Amino acid sequence: MNKMNHTVLLVIFITVKLLVPLVNGNDIWVEQSPSFTIDYTNNCFLKDGKPFRFVSGSMHYFRVPRSRWKDRMAKMKAAGLNALQTYVEWSSHEVQPGLFYFEGDYDLVQYIKTAQQVGLLVILRPGPYIDAERDMGGLPFWLLGVKRDIKLRSMDPEYMYYVDRWFGKLLPMIWPLLYSNGGPVIAVQVENEYGSYSACDFAYTAYLRDLFIKFLGDNIVLFTTDGYLNLMCGKIDRVFSTVDFGIETNVTHAFHHQRLHQSRGPLVNSEFYPGWLDYWGYPHANVSTESVCETLEEILSMNASVNIYMFHGGTSFGFGSGAGLGRVFKVSPTSYDYDAPLSEAGDPTEKYFSMRKVIGKFLPLPSEPVPGPSVKLALGTVDMKTTWFPLLDFLPYMVKSFKSKYPLSFEDIGQRDGFLMYTTKVDFRPTDPAILNIPGLRDRGYIFVEKQLQGILDRGEKIFTLPIKISRSQNLAIFVENQGRVCFGNGIHDRKGIVDNVTIGSVLLTNWTILPWNPDFMHENTLFEKLLLKHSNKNVNLGLWNNNDKVIYPSVFRGSFVLPEDITDLSFDTFLRLDGWHKGVVYLNNYSLGRYWPVVGPQETLYVPGSFFRLYPSINTITVMEQERSPCEVNPTCSVEFVAKPVINSLTPNSIEMNELDS
Ligand SMILES: *[C@@H]1O[C@H](CO)[C@@H](O)[C@H](O)[C@H]1NC(C)=O
Ligand SMILES: *[C@@H]1O[C@H](CO)[C@@H](O)[C@H](O)[C@H]1NC(C)=O
Ligand SMILES: *[C@@H]1O[C@H](CO)[C@@H](O)[C@H](O)[C@H]1NC(C)=O
Ligand SMILES: *[C@@H]1O[C@H](CO)[C@@H](O)[C@H](O)[C@H]1NC(C)=O
Ligand SMILES: *[C@@H]1O[C@H](CO)[C@@H](O)[C@H](O)[C@H]1NC(C)=O
Ligand SMILES: *[C@@H]1O[C@H](CO)[C@@H](O)[C@H](O)[C@H]1NC(C)=O
Repeated sequence: MNKMNHTVLLVIFITVKLLVPLVNGNDIWVEQSPSFTIDYTNNCFLKDGKPFRFVSGSMHYFRVPRSRWKDRMAKMKAAGLNALQTYVEWSSHEVQPGLFYFEGDYDLVQYIKTAQQVGLLVILRPGPYIDAERDMGGLPFWLLGVKRDIKLRSMDPEYMYYVDRWFGKLLPMIWPLLYSNGGPVIAVQVENEYGSYSACDFAYTAYLRDLFIKFLGDNIVLFTTDGYLNLMCGKIDRVFSTVDFGIETNVTHAFHHQRLHQSRGPLVNSEFYPGWLDYWGYPHANVSTESVCETLEEILSMNASVNIYMFHGGTSFGFGSGAGLGRVFKVSPTSYDYDAPLSEAGDPTEKYFSMRKVIGKFLPLPSEPVPGPSVKLALGTVDMKTTWFPLLDFLPYMVKSFKSKYPLSFEDIGQRDGFLMYTTKVDFRPTDPAILNIPGLRDRGYIFVEKQLQGILDRGEKIFTLPIKISRSQNLAIFVENQGRVCFGNGIHDRKGIVDNVTIGSVLLTNWTILPWNPDFMHENTLFEKLLLKHSNKNVNLGLWNNNDKVIYPSVFRGSFVLPEDITDLSFDTFLRLDGWHKGVVYLNNYSLGRYWPVVGPQETLYVPGSFFRLYPSINTITVMEQERSPCEVNPTCSVEFVAKPVINSLTPNSIEMNELDS
């Protein structure tokens, strides 16, 4: 920190001093700085010297459009919460090494300041690892490209070099926002559920602690969070230990475990689960309000502090969501509704009002009424037949290509999300049929021989081989979807693409050409856009076929529409239904609405905040990249539809028991 900064910070420090009465005289006032500390004698927090406990709620700025931050926070406040807890997602702030991004929906400082304006304190969890059902648990994917055997979440110097640089950027931004400096940040978490990670590197967690102290000072409340049976490797010397647990837990027993590792100080559940996470193809989490309220009341009646994870889950727009790897590989959907008290669209649910009642027994509730739900509009259908083209033909025009003897991964070529097309030519005589073998498929692969789809391989279904008909000199193409990197446990070193050799029978395939396809090219004003404009009226090489042609997938479709004139502001919300579409990603104007996969559920609709639209008379565009099958072959139903009601709990191929086994 240079001298200049010191001066600036000193000024802030002086201006935030509070006036507090002296113990023995109401008339004499002295200045005292705001403070937030732990009282180990009386087992509580002290805020400005007085006993304090927090009842906070988790909400992630990276899952809620900025235009909705304040609304959601006001609803948290109205539920009686006094604090907001958020993770900081390294991967979205440092998208490529050394390129930092803190704008728009990623304006973390503004997010924290907004919470303060609303009257909420902030509990910050900057990781660097966060889990949170995010791609690679919030770690930047490019770490996997740095060194083949990098050891994440450990003292591996290659990993620590980037952690040092990141925290050197982030933590000075946090310093002025600390409670003692007049900001709302009362506590900062070190790492995240580290006790559940096998590395158990105490040198690493101690180093992180010291890094926090270096940038934030040594009077900041630092804490850890772990499952109550996993504190052994999670505990950090001189950092306050807290636990997490959900319903149907013996609360006394869970806090007893906190006490085993942390003999004094306030009892804290840093993640109390009012709902649970979802996976594509598995039933939507549905956690009983009654049980949630019972356990919450039990926690609060023990004078504990509690954070409700999630209070508002929101949406993993774009490619932000991660995956789970237990007995099977499972993929997080776009919705992060979490069966939370505030729904995905930010509306108070029946669970919200019940939990508010419980909180009201322990903390004063604000007198203002609870803000109501947003207006939901059924805007109707949008015709998607205006433009479409097959990606296979388009891809070579879009992007650079890579040549390699053996397959390269996303990380090898520096691409975070999306798809890679692997092509090669068979230069031997295969059997008939021949078994194609892709053991290193991450995560879903579409197999083409001479542009004809042969079948689909899938990591989640453990299908890695396919009998195909292919002969000498024919082209084999494998279109590989990255479904999100594993976010939890020891599987987080999850390279994507094809990470092992490919064989036909016993013959090793070599000499690959790899074409990257990042659907963010579908953003407006990008290369894609220009190519599309240039060729949209011509039946040229790009393969813009006419309506009588059979659609080849994957394919991109585009439609446009104008909002009705009587809609005059963008405070409404709506949901996009994709009936008849199978699997893909969708954009509205320049916003990614995320992935859709209604054929496996449980999520059938995508949340669309009004702020993504343009008012009359501007044109709105919808771009859909469909990987498998669209309704466009059956005229005239080639459309998508904006509806007023979400469906995120539809029937799924897998049962609830399977979901619970390894989550
Ligand atoms: C809950 O845990 C406490 C402490 O371990 C134990 O004494 C008590 O019997 C347990 N209660 C139930 C209902 O299991
Ligand atoms: C959750 O389960 C309850 C009770 O079975 C049911 O009434 C409710 O509709 C379910 N909610 C969702 C979102 O599936
Ligand atoms: C909670 O705090 C109150 C007030 O300090 C005290 O009377 C009570 O015994 C505490 N309850 C528990 C379970 O610690
Ligand atoms: C692929 O096969 C080649 C030749 O046998 C070998 O050198 C290489 O290590 C293999 N790649 C992987 C990822 O196993
Ligand atoms: C792969 O490419 C190299 C260099 O272009 C060439 O010498 C070799 O014959 C090719 N191998 C196959 C199997 O096509
Ligand atoms: C849309 O997003 C892309 C990529 O972020 C950007 O380059 C482009 O300028 C944006 N277009 C508009 C119209 O905002």
